[in-house]
Amino acid sequence: MARISGKLVIATHNAGKLREIAALLAPFGVDCISAGALGLPEPDETGASFAENALIKAHAAAQASGLVALADDSGICVDTLGGRPGVYTADWAERQWFEGPAGRDWYLAMGKVEGLLAEQGAEVDRSCHFACVLAIASPDGTSVVYEGRAEGTIAWPPRGTIGFGYDPVFLPRGGALTFAELDPEEKHAISHRADAFAKLVADQFG
Ligand code: IMP
Repeated sequence: MARISGKLVIATHNAGKLREIAALLAPFGVDCISAGALGLPEPDETGASFAENALIKAHAAAQASGLVALADDSGICVDTLGGRPGVYTADWAERQWFEGPAGRDWYLAMGKVEGLLAEQGAEVDRSCHFACVLAIASPDGTSVVYEGRAEGTIAWPPRGTIGFGYDPVFLPRGGALTFAELDPEEKHAISHRADAFAKLVADQFG
């Protein structure tokens, strides 16, 4: 099984993600460096599941760098929509050329989810979950994955301005505030990412 020790490549080109993960692993003496800083190529995320995509990214970074690598993949899955948008969570935010400049519009994506739910009537089941899969891969080809979840429902209209992505429509189970209305510390205590990292830390450093 792939184990973290010393230097770890974080298979992301996103500086914010690197900072967040580096801070989480610093207490365990892990020295994180991003795939972007090493100039590693970004593989296509062609997997049919979060785990497949996380493994594609982790293996690619481990092979290219010769170091143990960690990758994550995440998204939101709506039960009534058969788990969609799932691995296409970010793609649902892509603007079409006729809707303005290229880029991602999260209100477009949230509206698409709501539109599909509304088609099924007022009594539709709005259950959903955020998923986060962390994959660790070694240059020797071994790997391990940790899956975290946050259960909730799709709220409408969107509420709150904190956070990113689908946060304004995610109402965590048992809560009254969406992820975009919660303080970051409160969100991080119950998020899918926190759940996955808790499993990683327990297994790798416990
Ligand atoms: P990726 O794992 O970076 O590819 O992210 C996939 C997409 O899932 C992101 O672009 C977000 O829109 C969505 N997502 C993942 N985690 C969260 C979250 O904590 N809040 C809101 N959206 C999220």
